[in-house]
Amino acid sequence: MESDLSLEFLRVVEQAAIACAHTMGQGDAHAADMAAVEAMREVLDTVPIDGTIVIGEGERDEAPMLFIGEKVGMAHQPAGNGRKFDAVDIAVDPLEGTNLCATGAPSAIAVLCAADAGDLLHAPDIYMDKLVVGPTAKHVVDLDAPVRENLRAIARSLGRQMDDIVVVVLNRPRHAQLIKDIRACGARIQLIEDGDLSAAIAAAVSGSGVHAVMGIGGAPEGVLTAAAMRCLNGEIFARLVINKPEDEERCKAMGIKDVKRVYRAADLAKGDNIIFAATGVTDGTLMKGVRFFGDGIRTSSLVMQTNPHRIRFIDGIQVYPGPSVRIRF
Ligand code: FBP
Repeated sequence: MESDLSLEFLRVVEQAAIACAHTMGQGDAHAADMAAVEAMREVLDTVPIDGTIVIGEGERDEAPMLFIGEKVGMAHQPAGNGRKFDAVDIAVDPLEGTNLCATGAPSAIAVLCAADAGDLLHAPDIYMDKLVVGPTAKHVVDLDAPVRENLRAIARSLGRQMDDIVVVVLNRPRHAQLIKDIRACGARIQLIEDGDLSAAIAAAVSGSGVHAVMGIGGAPEGVLTAAAMRCLNGEIFARLVINKPEDEERCKAMGIKDVKRVYRAADLAKGDNIIFAATGVTDGTLMKGVRFFGDGIRTSSLVMQTNPHRIRFIDGIQVYPGPSVRIRF
């Protein structure tokens, strides 16, 4: 896969973020998701690839989505002129944190990752138990270790006291015991309403104020997190959560034989050519939200790749046509 595709994918997430940012705070999660999905689909078809959507988050909550198996990219458009393009698998979450956007809350993002065909786990939209840490703690934690052991190991690896550590947890009843255990250790907790993928990225970036993400969230977000961890040298430890017999059947249908397996980043997002792109929809820890300023639109994005290994924070301005447009620093 060509590394230059990273900037092509940047266009995709920027436009998805802009489209749904228009709906921010309208209280209509479905419309927000729909706007992001449609923009993402449209721009993906201008990217010079022979793309296949392998994860199109949205099944679990019956949200608008790009469909698993959907073909995208110029190879499938008249503009491709029958040319041959690289086969690329793509995982998307056009609007990660639908409710965050609908309520104008922080940390909604538009996001995708891409890899050579066959390199992303085809995870169904079910739940996944996750433990995400940054580079210093990745060799000292274990998904099955007691919470106290993991937190001690994380604190030690960072040269911090337990009460210096911040763990992000989705605020859900299923996490009552986890939250109790973390509190009992004396670590600090940030409870979030949605968006464990944004939190996971922050956990792998030094200076973000987040040191780990723990608990159960979506499996598609887990694969996207894995791609981000490959780029950031962080780690995700993850296991699919089978809540009902259909979940296991869906896994099997998608080629997953061992549903109890603990995956790491390189199992979920394999290979040498991972690209990850995200644009902030609402303000978050690492990216600002979309700003409309009359003469144009300003976006804040994170574009990362493993080959060459590069991480770019991109502040973009799309300028509306006009002779006297003013750009502020
Ligand atoms: P959406 O992108 O569908 O809004 O998902 C947001 C999210 O909070 C994810 O970040 C998280 O992994 C998952 O939903 C948790 O699922 P649930 O809301 O069912 O607990």
